[in-house]
Amino acid sequence: MTSGEIRYLLLFLLLFLVVPTVVISSKSQPKFTPKDNYLIDCGSPEPTKLEDGRIFKSDKQSSSFLSTSEDVKATAVEKVHNKTSSMSSYALLMFPFMDLYMSARIFPDKSTYSFFISEPGRHWVRLYFFPMKNPDYNFTAAVFTVTAEKTVLLRDFSCPTPLPVLKEYLINLKKDRVSLVFTPAPKSIAFINAIEVVSAPGDLIKNTAINVVSPNTHLPNKEFTGMDNHALQLTQRINVGGPLILPSNDPLFRGWQKQDTFLKTRSFARNVSISTKKIKYPGENKINSQLVAPAKVYSTCEKMINANVAAPNFNITWEFPIDGGGFSYLLRLHLCDIISKQLNDLYFNIYVNGLDAAANLDLSTLTSALSTAYYTDLFLGEDFIHSDNIIRVQIGPSDNTETGAKNAILNGVEVFKMSNVAGSLDGLYSIDGLYKGVPPEKKKDETVAWFGLVLSFFAIIVCAVVFYKWRRRPADWHLKGSLSSWLLPIRTPKNTTKLNSSSRTGSNRRYSSRKSKSSNFFSAGTIGIGRFYSFSEVQEATRNFAEKSVIGVGGFGKVYMGNLEDGTKIAVKRGNPSSEQGINEFQTEIQLLSKLRHRHLVSLMGYCDEDTEMILVYEFMSNGPLNDHLYGPGGPNGALSWKRRLEICIGAARGLHYLHTGAAEGIIHRDVKTTNILLDEAYVAKVADFGLSKTGPSMEQTHVSTAVKGSFGYLDPEYFRRQQLTDKSDVYSFGVVLIEVLCARPVIDPSLPREQVNLAEWAMKMHRKGMLDKIIDPNLNGKISTASLKKYMEAAEKCISEYGSDRPAMGDVLWNLEYSLQLQESSMDESDIEESESGGGGKHIELKPLPKILEEEEEEREKGDNGGEEILESSKSGYSYNGS
Ligand SMILES: *[C@@H]1O[C@H](CO)[C@@H](O)[C@H](O)[C@H]1NC(C)=O
Ligand SMILES: *[C@@H]1O[C@H](CO)[C@@H](O)[C@H](O)[C@H]1NC(C)=O
Ligand SMILES: *[C@@H]1O[C@H](CO)[C@@H](O)[C@H](O)[C@H]1NC(C)=O
Ligand SMILES: *[C@@H]1O[C@H](CO)[C@@H](O)[C@H](O)[C@H]1NC(C)=O
Repeated sequence: MTSGEIRYLLLFLLLFLVVPTVVISSKSQPKFTPKDNYLIDCGSPEPTKLEDGRIFKSDKQSSSFLSTSEDVKATAVEKVHNKTSSMSSYALLMFPFMDLYMSARIFPDKSTYSFFISEPGRHWVRLYFFPMKNPDYNFTAAVFTVTAEKTVLLRDFSCPTPLPVLKEYLINLKKDRVSLVFTPAPKSIAFINAIEVVSAPGDLIKNTAINVVSPNTHLPNKEFTGMDNHALQLTQRINVGGPLILPSNDPLFRGWQKQDTFLKTRSFARNVSISTKKIKYPGENKINSQLVAPAKVYSTCEKMINANVAAPNFNITWEFPIDGGGFSYLLRLHLCDIISKQLNDLYFNIYVNGLDAAANLDLSTLTSALSTAYYTDLFLGEDFIHSDNIIRVQIGPSDNTETGAKNAILNGVEVFKMSNVAGSLDGLYSIDGLYKGVPPEKKKDETVAWFGLVLSFFAIIVCAVVFYKWRRRPADWHLKGSLSSWLLPIRTPKNTTKLNSSSRTGSNRRYSSRKSKSSNFFSAGTIGIGRFYSFSEVQEATRNFAEKSVIGVGGFGKVYMGNLEDGTKIAVKRGNPSSEQGINEFQTEIQLLSKLRHRHLVSLMGYCDEDTEMILVYEFMSNGPLNDHLYGPGGPNGALSWKRRLEICIGAARGLHYLHTGAAEGIIHRDVKTTNILLDEAYVAKVADFGLSKTGPSMEQTHVSTAVKGSFGYLDPEYFRRQQLTDKSDVYSFGVVLIEVLCARPVIDPSLPREQVNLAEWAMKMHRKGMLDKIIDPNLNGKISTASLKKYMEAAEKCISEYGSDRPAMGDVLWNLEYSLQLQESSMDESDIEESESGGGGKHIELKPLPKILEEEEEEREKGDNGGEEILESSKSGYSYNGS
């Protein structure tokens, strides 16, 4: 090869490498990478990829999205009609989202989606609704309320017409998580097709806007400050004089409609457009100003027709219908002088609802250049909205200029509704349902005074009652729900000892009188306890209780693996009827488990009490107890990754949290340990063994006095000392589990030096010395992100606090673990650590960590004792067998 050839080759390569990148970068839009980017296609069985490249994750993929039990929710799927030419501009804007409208999640009860917020500030919240046809649910009849944090987004909302609806909000989020709460009206359902919660650029909405003041006051326009305190809802977003802009062509995925019917004086206006490449953006930080609106908005406008006539004397008018009822609005006008040939040639006026918003506006002095993007924010107080509920924007030529062209332009309009005094974007009721409207007019000062007197009298009484109740509050009142829930009269919970006594007497009766297959005890006492299994059936399934089938031994008896005729695998627990302890545990377990159903609790499939047998039949958990995967008699069973360990802990915490707060009476497990956390084939953790469980203290009691039971190493020292059981005892045991999971050694190991025997004590000692890394499972070395470990240990340390009152509620533990997982995932994302999932049969499904969403504990707690949605009253959906 000659040097000339090489030169040509190099040139060729250069052309190949350089030219395409240049073209791409000049064509590419400004990029914005949101810190928080939650895209969810609700009810969809799989992720949905939109034409614009965004992937909406299914809320079924992660169990942690919703605060409601996942098993009851129905999904409706329907193909939405095809794109047609007769579709309106609005419908066309919707079209790229059609895939999102094909499935929905339905909520028969109040339900919550929660999201971590990594960076406080304005976030888009976009809600997609489509009332699809469904044989089981009437979507068009659904009436519901949606709130986000302190803001009411939709109140008694419905979609009566079968058209897709997209609601877009910009909410200033201040906390590290946000909850979207869906509350159906009585006897109705709520539904949602898709959700976006996405960070918006910090300076997209400024705290100040121009306050349009009536010209009659002869005051200059003032500034309105405090926009940051208002949530915004998009009313209109218009590309004036230009085409529709699909979300895919906007760096922030906003859709811009055509002006269509909003332009009232069509014959007075003429559209102008120039190449988008000619549009310049002001400021040093060009990227940020480019995000305000795409160049496509600024490159088109409407100007006045007949501009050549000596003195055009008319306005161009746009009318934007809005909701009435005491809302203020933020009006953003996008302006860009694309019609002038020289600077300082265009002076014009802008009016809003007949008032001067800008007089003799000269864009040249504002931008110092032609074809340069500019926008102005106008605050329209509620008193400037007339009864016709229209925002009327008019532009007209300035009349007191001698020079320059008589013309006026407008490039784009955005109208946002601002949240009102009630913190609402829909009606005057606050999130607590309180009416915040204008009180009835005061007639006389005298009545006001009387009213005040009466009011203060009541206030004193209320204060006294509150004080009295506060003095008598249970020690763990904060577990029991919000302040209001225990201040209000509460239905007295059932006597907590009832379960115990009834089961005991019941058992005696049962054992003396039992002859038939289905005993009186079960048929009369409990509902929904699953299917009855005949002894021969169980015998066959377990090959006559072959020793080979034994998978565990508990206090209650041996546990066998079995295969039913239809191929279903089961776990069979066979009790020893001669032990009184066994009988009680048998009944406790049946009574509790039959009332409970949760993804993270092992479910009871049925029982057998033929003759003297006490047999419980459970779903089979193919990966066995958690401790087997940490360490075991036969050496470690393959190390679990840190992420998987966190997921397992989160699952178990979720199950316990549900026990403590979800059931009608809080339930204390009393024997939380790694052998009682079972893993199914997908490593989903389920809490098992409710034999020792107790229904928790009632509102009046702070604890249950009981003989100390549980397992050494996990036992709450306070419970041990005082013999008083609270749900904080479970929290303690769970804290020990967390440490065990991290260190992968038995919690009590007598073979070790004295100070190391008790794992929890030893780990805390090492942690305080900053030598935790010495005792962490060597399999995890270098694979845990520091931030994740810190959060995890924080949670574990609090759990094993000496005093129950210092320990967090299970919901808080859960939150910390979720957070720890997210920290781990984001660190994996950054460093691209390929973590090998060597835990056995499980597949690593999520290649890229997708947004993680947390259950909202407070919401659940608020639901308090009506957690009925998670308790299946009927045995049908939970326990019956289709196959048999
Ligand atoms: C939509 O279009 C597809 C193919 O373009 C066609 O198969 C389908 O029948 C159409 N659906 C409706 C409802 O028109
Ligand atoms: C659904 O409810 C709406 C409004 O209540 C009613 O008009 C409609 O007939 C109902 N549709 C069905 C299929 O029940
Ligand atoms: C611009 O004006 C022409 C003629 O008046 C019209 O046909 C066209 O639809 C307009 N374009 C837009 C985007 O409004
Ligand atoms: C334009 O509209 C404003 C406000 O409605 C009005 O005061 C003004 O007289 C109008 N100008 C013309 C030329 O009609």
